[in-house]
Amino acid sequence: MKLLKDSKRALLKPHLLSVEDLSIPEVDILLNKANFYADANKQKGKIEKTLKRSTVITLFFETSTRTKTSFELAAKRLGANSIGINASASAIKKGETLIDTAMTLNAMHADVLIVRHPDSGAVKLLSEKVNCAVINAGDGTHEHPTQALLDALTIKRNKKNIKNLNIAICGDVLHSRVARSNILLLSKLGARLRVIAPPTLIPKNIENLGIEVFTDMKKGLVDCDIVMMLRLQMERMKGLYVPSTKEYFKFYGLDHEKLKKAKKDALIMHPGPMNRGIEIDSSLADNLDRSLIHQQVEMGVAVRMACLEMLTLGIDK
Ligand code: CP
Repeated sequence: MKLLKDSKRALLKPHLLSVEDLSIPEVDILLNKANFYADANKQKGKIEKTLKRSTVITLFFETSTRTKTSFELAAKRLGANSIGINASASAIKKGETLIDTAMTLNAMHADVLIVRHPDSGAVKLLSEKVNCAVINAGDGTHEHPTQALLDALTIKRNKKNIKNLNIAICGDVLHSRVARSNILLLSKLGARLRVIAPPTLIPKNIENLGIEVFTDMKKGLVDCDIVMMLRLQMERMKGLYVPSTKEYFKFYGLDHEKLKKAKKDALIMHPGPMNRGIEIDSSLADNLDRSLIHQQVEMGVAVRMACLEMLTLGIDK
């Protein structure tokens, strides 16, 4: 691949498809760079237009508010040409295949293609057909690497160290690419991970990832530093996974009572979009002393600036 020819660019892979592909030094460099941009964005400081000769295209086959907007904003803040393609308004509607669409965009000499697709593995397949960098913005139930990176940065800025933190990921783990990427990344960074979910929403053999598994939320939350809630992904469910949303909230929704089981200074996260009153009590979601949900969104722009820059320019910019 083009980027690997330059030794300065060899640290980060030419694509960002999975957190599994990232080494700990790569994650450290990326998070440090993102941390710099998080401060610069806050202070509305002058940001060097390091990508002013680059073209970034977002291609989303699923809905998105946070990921698509923050990638496009990140590209613009760094001075890149940024174009968003809505798959439902593209030639895909006329029968063009994913690969033909990718080849078409490739012929326009994009530098980075950011893709979200409902099928696990589709973004990797596409990355093999183009000669620009590809970022996985979420593929089916497989991975959402930039979400895990922004979650790691959010935790780092609030708890200083990720190592040895007890982190619970709660809810629809079965359908969650966010859960998978976070388990892989946060374990790599030394956190102790556990998942809490009804038996129907726990993937088979998940304990093989070296994590604890709980079906009782009150037991699972004991001693937790971070409580990460997940959305119930109704659109991916084929069949009945929970009796009702009311019942689900009673046993697996985060409320004040259940949160008391975690550490006194435990912080709450949710990747969004969230369903208030189903996964999380509304007043907890809005409690800025405990909830990091808005910070997660803020860190999303910074992390995506760092990813775009590192994939385009290499590690020394
Ligand atoms: N967390 C996340 O991926 O949100 P969007 O679906 O809004 O991009």
